[in-house]
Amino acid sequence: MPGLAIGHSHGGVRGEDQTPRSPIFEGRFGRMFRRLPPATFSEQALHALATLMIAEAEAEPTPETEVDNEENQGIAAGFTYLGQFIDHDLTFDPASSLMKQNDPNALVDFRNPQFDLDNIYGRGPDDQPYLYEADGRHLQLGRPLTGNPTDPNTHDVPRHASDTGGPQPRARALIGDPRNDENVIISQLQATLLRFHNKLADEHTDKSFAEVQQLVRWHYQWVVLHDFLVTIVGKEMVQSILPHLKSGRSMFDDRPQLLFYRFRNNPFIPVEFSVAAYRFGHSMVRPIYRLNTTLGADPPPANDAVNGRQFIFHPDDDTQSLNGFRAFPPIWAIEWNLFFDMGDHLPNVGVKRLQRAYKIDTSLVNPLGRLPTSFGFPEDRRSLAERNLLRGLRMGLPSGQDVARAMGAPVIDDDHLKVGKATDESQATNPKLVEIKEFGREFIGKAPLWFYVLAEAQQQFKKDDTPIRLGPVGGRIVAETFIGLLLGDPHSFLSQSPEWTPNKSRVFTMADLIRTATS
Ligand code: HEM
Repeated sequence: MPGLAIGHSHGGVRGEDQTPRSPIFEGRFGRMFRRLPPATFSEQALHALATLMIAEAEAEPTPETEVDNEENQGIAAGFTYLGQFIDHDLTFDPASSLMKQNDPNALVDFRNPQFDLDNIYGRGPDDQPYLYEADGRHLQLGRPLTGNPTDPNTHDVPRHASDTGGPQPRARALIGDPRNDENVIISQLQATLLRFHNKLADEHTDKSFAEVQQLVRWHYQWVVLHDFLVTIVGKEMVQSILPHLKSGRSMFDDRPQLLFYRFRNNPFIPVEFSVAAYRFGHSMVRPIYRLNTTLGADPPPANDAVNGRQFIFHPDDDTQSLNGFRAFPPIWAIEWNLFFDMGDHLPNVGVKRLQRAYKIDTSLVNPLGRLPTSFGFPEDRRSLAERNLLRGLRMGLPSGQDVARAMGAPVIDDDHLKVGKATDESQATNPKLVEIKEFGREFIGKAPLWFYVLAEAQQQFKKDDTPIRLGPVGGRIVAETFIGLLLGDPHSFLSQSPEWTPNKSRVFTMADLIRTATS
């Protein structure tokens, strides 16, 4: 099988190429279900499935005066990029480029995957002083951005100054993890986290840098557990793993219940998570986003692609897309209440509406079928759906049905595994996986795990506005991995101080974090 070329930007999983099934193995990557056999398919069958999973390009984007029936009413659009940010936090290892020379497959565990914001802090002020201000306490911000009427202090991430000429200058971001400049939304999320750190540094002048850093990390971990995870997998799943959150007793009385994610000494990233379940986020990406309410004004400012909205990627024109790795137009400051529910009761339609993520279903928007050339992938490997499916094959992932059986979860029968969008219109006509032309037989009784996780979420569909979260298999893989990593990190708030809360009300969401950062 030809290898998958990995781009510099947001590649596959480091060290994943040889993830041993040995029960004694404990490295940076490992398996949750070591005894299940790999599900095999021909590459042609996976190509056919990937092609069906990429939606047709929309002739006309849904007007902002109408509700878009591909939107997930249960998940705001910002969670897509918070999810990508979290992925980068977990899978980034600042030591790896050095270590890789000695350990190309990263089979030795040099560093544990943790929710520690190393994508914000890099290797710290001593080792990477250029990420920090001269005081060594505050993180550097970039140029001011405009267009957000609610926050005149919006800043870009800092960028390399020497190559900022030209209309779309390719100015490299100076940040802890270069992948967080992959698109304009994640880079502004990065800039907001930088500001959150600076805000806490200002508010706690009595605390050392390390103490402020711990406070920032704990707030972020709280958001990951209580807001992001609950939104994606539902409260019941989180409480079934952390029963103390339901009973109100202490975590020592009501012990955590990790049923399938087990580690002896150090937690690792299971391939079932990184190569399948946690890639659910790819189906949440929208084709078009409104960044702020200034864009699209009359007369339209420059770089106004679709009446003030931008394509996530554009095949021919960078100026109209949110493609990253460059200094984008300064008027593109994000108004976060268009991405997260900031509690200000925006209308459901119109330019001020809260945009929702696209539904978790077995369909990816068209631009993800041909990733931008800046990702550096060969021409025949530019489909994200195909990359995910081939990666799963190469990693020897078990089928979704086998994992469901191993978990004692309901197994979806072939008649209900369908390919396409979770909308009233498509549900009726979506083809069955086992009926894919020429290759359907290969999928009888076994579906690729990534596809299965998406199809499982899609089973919740009743009508266009039904909220859709991960189901019992996908939800459990993601939730056990997140909670296991938090419990296995000796510095996390769950390990050090499970009773800790960010405030007396015990409510602190991503919207609150943004509000604090921008206040
Ligand atoms: C515009 C948005 C996104 C793009 C263009 C994108 C693109 C990619 C690409 C090209 C890969 C490598 C594929 C391979 O060769 O195997 C990848 C991996 C991955 N993506 Fe995404 N992705 C996006 C958003 C997300 C989101 C929202 C999530 C989760 C919520 C996510 C989770 C992952 C995971 C877990 C991996 C594998 C681990 C890693 O290397 O980071 N991605 N993505």
